[in-house]
Amino acid sequence: MRRPIISGNWKMYKDINEAIELANAVKRGVFDVENVEIVICPSFTNLSELGEMFVGSNVSVGGQNCYWEKEGAYTGEISVPMLKSVGCSYVIVGHSERRKYFGETDETVNRKIAAVLEEELVPIMCVGETLEEREAGKTLEVVKDQVVGGLRNFQETQLETLVIAYEPVWAIGTGKTATPGQAQEVHAMIRSLMAECFSPAFADAVRILYGGSVKPDNVGELMAERDIDGGLIGGASLKAEGFVDMVKTTSQLYAEKKG
Ligand code: 13P
Repeated sequence: MRRPIISGNWKMYKDINEAIELANAVKRGVFDVENVEIVICPSFTNLSELGEMFVGSNVSVGGQNCYWEKEGAYTGEISVPMLKSVGCSYVIVGHSERRKYFGETDETVNRKIAAVLEEELVPIMCVGETLEEREAGKTLEVVKDQVVGGLRNFQETQLETLVIAYEPVWAIGTGKTATPGQAQEVHAMIRSLMAECFSPAFADAVRILYGGSVKPDNVGELMAERDIDGGLIGGASLKAEGFVDMVKTTSQLYAEKKG
């Protein structure tokens, strides 16, 4: 069975004091959860502190972005070795906000994934269609192109840790969640695409998260879908109680599945 991941993407929220407070509350709330991988992706300025706070706990930290060069004259950029040095074990790559506002493309996503893998961190590759694309009936085509483009030239053996996050752009921060059926359809397509590009065993093992207005009251029905292996959560991860609740709901669901 694939191990579920519940990840909070804090985006550009929380200064250092607020971040410490929220991180402490999350840590206390989830300390006894064993069957869910819990990942917090705070802003770069909070990473070092949170990385230390979570040492020895069941919570990991991740970056929200990275640059593909290891070092150099790239003012304002952050490299993967730098992320690793402050305790990161995951990096979100290709979030739709990066694609939309910062010119990220499938090609830059591809280069960033290579850089993340080279340092043995886990890439969380984000893909998803806009409302316009969905309404034009292009969802599966768009997502397929993004997945293929992001993973171009990789061998299956390099991608063992890869995590994919399907985040329909129209569901991000809008309160409009994809229905479990809408999400499952895309997740199933991505999984069969992975079987085609790599192998059935790879497809069976790769974890595919859903993101887009996941909240305590819809996390259960989403996680119950067979090809949804966790969530990448924005707004609802900024409140400790709700985030802990979503981790616990997922934990319970998986404990029951196993039993
Ligand atoms: P919301 O949960 O706020 O919709 O954001 C989702 C997201 O973009 C996570 O990366």
